Order: sequence, then structure tokens, then C-alpha cells
Amino acid sequence: MQGIFDSHAHYDDKKFDGDRGALLRSMPENGVCRILNIGCDLTSSQQSIDLAEQYDFIYCAVGTHPHEAKMMSRFYLEIYREMAAHPKVKAIGEIGLDYHYDFSPRDIQKKVFDEQMALARELSLPVVIHEREALPDTLEILKRYPGAGVVHCFSGSAETAREILRLGYHVGFGGALTFKNARRALEAAAVLPLERILLETDCPYMAPEPHRGKRNDSTLLPLVAQKLAEIKGITAQEVVDATRENACRLFGIA
Ligand code: NI
Repeated sequence: MQGIFDSHAHYDDKKFDGDRGALLRSMPENGVCRILNIGCDLTSSQQSIDLAEQYDFIYCAVGTHPHEAKMMSRFYLEIYREMAAHPKVKAIGEIGLDYHYDFSPRDIQKKVFDEQMALARELSLPVVIHEREALPDTLEILKRYPGAGVVHCFSGSAETAREILRLGYHVGFGGALTFKNARRALEAAAVLPLERILLETDCPYMAPEPHRGKRNDSTLLPLVAQKLAEIKGITAQEVVDATRENACRLFGIA
């Protein structure tokens, strides 16, 4: 399969320390032509920029994940504004709310999410949204910022998918779509038009079946494309082509 766009990867993660260079150099020959590496805090955002400078097919997003929201000093937005001036920074993310782990107090999560949504609007950049067990509050903030972005690693219902569509956002699907308990996400994928779907790994996490639990990377995305192809009644290559074009359009990448 050729022309795969992985819209959500974390190749700065230490799980890639042993073989990062060899793995990334092998991407083009494995059909992976574009990767958006996603920041989770100030350090990983800078590391994402560093990777984007080293590899022509890597682009990046900078932002603070809800887990890290409580770590932000009063100057963090200023630093992201400077980082976003880099030509390979194509989005603000990942940002959002996570009430499953609650690693940061919810009021701080909401404040940091809202501030970064405002920054994305100011810079005219799309957003990469992380949402876990925080759907009503997430939708409330998205409604105040109608615009471009993707709700990543989607596991919500078909009804929620329709709501996200109405707000103008895209939906990202990864390895979880191949898990045995994925019935709800499969229903959501069925109602979403193909032009609003992105492929993503969230690597090193979320490896698709039959690799579940192992380290994930972008070369496993054909397994997710195959699952989407079955749902949509098209070929996996058609899924790869459509999702690449969607991601290129959303993130302004040629
Ligand atoms: Ni992620």
C-alpha cells in the first residue's frame, strides 16, 4: 500500500529510542509518505519540531495534553506562539480534556484547553483534540470555536460522530477500530463520510490486531485501512488515498 498519512504519532516517545532513526528512514519504502508528530507538552513539542527538521515527510503539532495541563507556567502560550512560527508546525495539539485519569484538576484542564483553542484561532491553525470521558465539556468548548480540527482516537457513538461533523471537525481512527470491543466505533465509522475521516496510529500505543499490546508504528496502518475499507465497501488503497487527501487539506500540507 502506498501514500499512507499517519495523522497522529509520537515518535519522540522513549519507546523509540533504540531504533528511531532506522524505523523512520524505513517509512517511505513501507508506503508511509506523511507523518504528523504530536506534542503533549513543551518538551515533546520541541522534540516534534526537531523530528520535522530531520525528516522531510514529518510535520508536527505543538500543544499541551490535558494530563500535563497543571504543569504549564504563565508563559507557555508565548512559547507555543513562537514554536508555531516554524513552517512545519501545522496544528495545535494535542489538547483537550481527560476525565478518565484526571491527572490535572478539571478546572485547569478546561482553562488550558480553552487558551490553546484561542491560540489556534489566532494563528489560523487546525487543532488535534484528545477527549476521554469528558464529552459534554469538550463539545461545549468546541462549539465556541467552530473551525478546523480532528477529534483523535475516536471511540464515541454514531450520534456523537454526527455532532462532531456538524461542528465541522474530522474524526481520527486508529488501531482501536480493530479490537474485539470496537462495535460502537465501527458504527460511528459507518455513519461518517469518508472525507471527514483520518488514519492515525497514536504510536507507540494502540497497535491494531493482531499486534495489540505491542509497540505500534505507522507501518501497521494498512490493518486499520483494511477495517475501514470493509465498513465502507471500498478497497484499503481507496481508504489510504482519501484519508491522505483529507489530512493534507486539513493541515495545509502538499
Ligand atoms: Ni496522542
